[in-house]
Amino acid sequence: MLLPLLYLFAVARLADAYFSILVDNNTQVDTSDCPITYYGQEYTTVYTNFTGEHLFVCFNGYYTPEGNGDCIRMPNSDNKTNFVLNNNNDPSYWTYLTDFVHSSVSTVTNNMTCYLHFYFTSSMALFSMGSQSVVYYYGTPPMFVSVLVNGDVVENVFGVQYVEVLSDTSGCRISGLGVKPGTSRQNLETCSSMTCSNTSIASMKSCGPSGQCDGNGTCSVKGLCTVTGPTIIDFNGQINSVSDRCEYTLLLDQNTGLTLKANFLERRRRDVSFVDSLTLDFSDSDDIQLLQGHRVMVAGSPVTLNSSVQTFSGVDLSKDQTGVTVGFSVSGSSVSLFFDGTTAQIYIETSAGDSLDGLCVDSSNVSSSRLSSDSSCQDEYVDPADDTIDCAAVTQQCNILKSAPFSSCNLHVDPEPYLIACRSTLCKYPSVDNLRCQFLEAYVKACEKKQVNIQNWWTAAQCHHPEPVCEDKCSDHEFCGDIHGINDCRCRAIYASQYTEQNRLGGPTVCQDNTASLSLVGCLLKENAIDYTHLHLNDKTCTGVMDPDSHMVSFSFSSDGCGAVVTTNNSQVIFTNAIVTRNSSSDVITRQDEVFIEFSCSQPKPELQNVAFKIIDNSVEIVLQSGEWTYSLTMKAYSDAAHAQLLDPKSDVRLNQKIWIVLETNGLDGNLVSVVTDSCWATSDESSTSTPRYNLIKDGCANPDDGTVQVMGNGEGTSNSFSFNMFEFSGSGPSEVYLHCQLQLCVKKDNNCVPGCSPVARRRRSLRYRRGAPALISMVWTH
Ligand SMILES: *[C@@H]1O[C@H](CO)[C@@H](O)[C@H](O)[C@H]1NC(C)=O
Ligand SMILES: *[C@@H]1O[C@H](CO)[C@@H](O)[C@H](O)[C@H]1NC(C)=O
Ligand SMILES: *[C@@H]1O[C@H](CO)[C@@H](O)[C@H](O)[C@H]1NC(C)=O
Ligand SMILES: *[C@@H]1O[C@H](CO)[C@@H](O)[C@H](O)[C@H]1NC(C)=O
Ligand SMILES: *[C@@H]1O[C@H](CO)[C@@H](O)[C@H](O)[C@H]1NC(C)=O
Ligand SMILES: *[C@@H]1O[C@H](CO)[C@@H](O)[C@H](O)[C@H]1NC(C)=O
Ligand SMILES: *[C@@H]1O[C@H](CO)[C@@H](O)[C@H](O)[C@H]1NC(C)=O
Ligand SMILES: *[C@@H]1O[C@H](CO)[C@@H](O)[C@H](O)[C@H]1NC(C)=O
Ligand SMILES: *[C@@H]1O[C@H](CO)[C@@H](O)[C@H](O)[C@H]1NC(C)=O
Ligand SMILES: *[C@@H]1O[C@H](CO)[C@@H](O)[C@H](O)[C@H]1NC(C)=O
Repeated sequence: MLLPLLYLFAVARLADAYFSILVDNNTQVDTSDCPITYYGQEYTTVYTNFTGEHLFVCFNGYYTPEGNGDCIRMPNSDNKTNFVLNNNNDPSYWTYLTDFVHSSVSTVTNNMTCYLHFYFTSSMALFSMGSQSVVYYYGTPPMFVSVLVNGDVVENVFGVQYVEVLSDTSGCRISGLGVKPGTSRQNLETCSSMTCSNTSIASMKSCGPSGQCDGNGTCSVKGLCTVTGPTIIDFNGQINSVSDRCEYTLLLDQNTGLTLKANFLERRRRDVSFVDSLTLDFSDSDDIQLLQGHRVMVAGSPVTLNSSVQTFSGVDLSKDQTGVTVGFSVSGSSVSLFFDGTTAQIYIETSAGDSLDGLCVDSSNVSSSRLSSDSSCQDEYVDPADDTIDCAAVTQQCNILKSAPFSSCNLHVDPEPYLIACRSTLCKYPSVDNLRCQFLEAYVKACEKKQVNIQNWWTAAQCHHPEPVCEDKCSDHEFCGDIHGINDCRCRAIYASQYTEQNRLGGPTVCQDNTASLSLVGCLLKENAIDYTHLHLNDKTCTGVMDPDSHMVSFSFSSDGCGAVVTTNNSQVIFTNAIVTRNSSSDVITRQDEVFIEFSCSQPKPELQNVAFKIIDNSVEIVLQSGEWTYSLTMKAYSDAAHAQLLDPKSDVRLNQKIWIVLETNGLDGNLVSVVTDSCWATSDESSTSTPRYNLIKDGCANPDDGTVQVMGNGEGTSNSFSFNMFEFSGSGPSEVYLHCQLQLCVKKDNNCVPGCSPVARRRRSLRYRRGAPALISMVWTH
């Protein structure tokens, strides 16, 4: 019987592109004129098999019960069938059928281009719709058609007698399984969920790369996660590493918000990081921090632990020589965490559900677990490669994990991730500070979780057991490492580089409140084999003081104490001291380098040193008439005794600076007359008669009250000069200094023009030289 739908069209309009045959058992038909996209696969052949009960129309070969057939299975009523392929290329022909399919199957959106039709008593058609396809069935009971993909029934299409049923056969093929559009399939064994969208786009979700499927549809997290040095080996044995100094989430329970965080920091090299501290962040109770040196803080306060378990807000804490053990629970599973300062191991014995996240669950994307909000922890440093490292030798050392006694565990715990961790770190970072043994110990601990105890491994591997730790608590810029064979606090590379790059051991000098101090970095001193107790200042009783937390050693002295050497220059008083090595020539031998670090602080001299004067006009000239003589008088200021450096308005004159003033005439006959500087004085006002007045020269002689004044050549010729030290008028604020000089001409007779000046007796001599009006000349200095 023809299906009613096709009957209307196919019979009424038999086009050229219409191919019809009778098909019986075991027939292969070329259908390349109407390809069918069936569950993502395009087919151009059909194969038929009639079994007693069914007709199989297959695409990828004849049907066999055990085969991987892509087939349509339908009731067999006739042992034969008519077959029609219609690929009429008149688009208008297909409009009705396309609309019919679209209205029946919502997931199909393409237009129909051709069909394959099998009919006798019942009708089955495959509609080809470009990248989509639809199966159509119309007939008599038993009314069901099965859609098989890869031999597996994806769908049974049921119908009512003589009612058309249609189903989308575009679908997706995921891991060999067919998935009908708009549906999902679950695989309990692999915990995967395969989804095919309405538009036949496939997607698959499983437990993820970290996923451990319990074989019953549930993803779970369990096992051991190891963080050793920079390396993370997650619960699945997948390995990755951290290269910066940021904080990361190792484990996060999305249900409760509980987070286990790890902070990474550099040690000897700036470009290799090590797990440094862990924080257990309970969103609803106190944080627990596991720090270097087996130290533990609960809610910010240190706690003292021993081998017996103590419980803090439901968390079990204990400690032995090897490290700290923490027990807590996540999603009903108990978690055991161990941290020894270099390696953290997180062990979940029973499945902890699939609400967990973090690097331990999936280490493949490190940056997605980075927590630090301050991105400076991501700054990159490049240190020169360490050419003392022999990578081949290191690899051999790490490979001990594959030989006795470790090999006894190889079947239980794959040594490969531990080998990679060991090798990748030690090919870049020197094998010091017991690092090699830490990697071996991490493997040993992993074996213990599998009940494999490796006896005496430390002897075979030449390791210390337990690892030695630093006696002192190292500060934040330090880590516990080997210094000349002793475990002590070393400087972290980035911290140290700010000093070592400048070849310094500390500093800078701090000058404050009359005290000079210089702090040296304790760990740098130790690394340079300098015992700070052997250092002192010039005065050997002045020694350094070490801060117990920061390990900074500070030396200080105030003004001239502790043997400071005091020097001055024009403007400063300088206090200099030095940190030196104790004179140990009484010792027979010495094991440390001599230290000599000079440091100083300076203070301005107590006077007002910084007041500077400027001369307004460096040369004042006036023209004078005295009796029969017309002459010019100039007054010039110099900064040197040779009168070579004329002071100009640009040069500063500091207080107390010596100044030379030259008074010079032009136009006088030196054989007949000489010039006598009778008096010179200063005022703060332009007027020469104003007060205050300060005398420099009086009655031709230097003011004996001012020891800085010197008069030269007065009365001896037509020029003379004097010098004085710059001063200023005391009182409120800076003022100007006006310098006035009064001169006389003296007619030379018996050398009577030179004023007689006695430093002791200030006797006034008769001034026989006075003739005519005195000349007055002035000069001004300003700030
Ligand atoms: C289907 O036909 C092929 C080809 O003749 C044959 O080999 C195969 O056994 C048949 N399958 C069944 C189940 O009869
Ligand atoms: C079709 O052929 C197979 C063997 O190839 C045979 O087993 C089967 O019975 C045949 N079917 C019919 C209806 O003859
Ligand atoms: C189909 O073939 C089988 C076996 O060859 C036979 O037993 C059966 O009667 C046939 N059915 C019809 C309707 O011819
Ligand atoms: C599908 O058919 C409709 C109506 O016949 C036509 O407008 C449309 O362009 C066709 N779409 C495609 C992709 O051929
Ligand atoms: C997929 O198709 C179904 C009906 O077939 C519809 O209910 C659903 O909303 C569709 N989904 C999308 C994402 O279009
Ligand atoms: C699988 O899960 C079901 C229901 O959750 C449970 O009854 C069954 O015991 C589980 N089987 C295994 C092997 O875990
Ligand atoms: C451990 O410390 C607790 C509390 O400080 C103390 O009560 C207990 O005796 C200690 N146990 C051992 C073995 O030292
Ligand atoms: C890793 O995670 C980050 C942040 O979540 C994301 O931006 C990045 O694309 C991820 N990288 C890969 C390779 O998945
Ligand atoms: C005086 O010493 C101080 C401190 O050392 C220095 O800064 C200044 O330049 C020196 N001044 C002169 C004039 O040498
Ligand atoms: C060190 O002390 C010895 C005597 O104990 C003395 O001879 C020597 O000069 C001293 N050296 C210094 C640098 O003070």
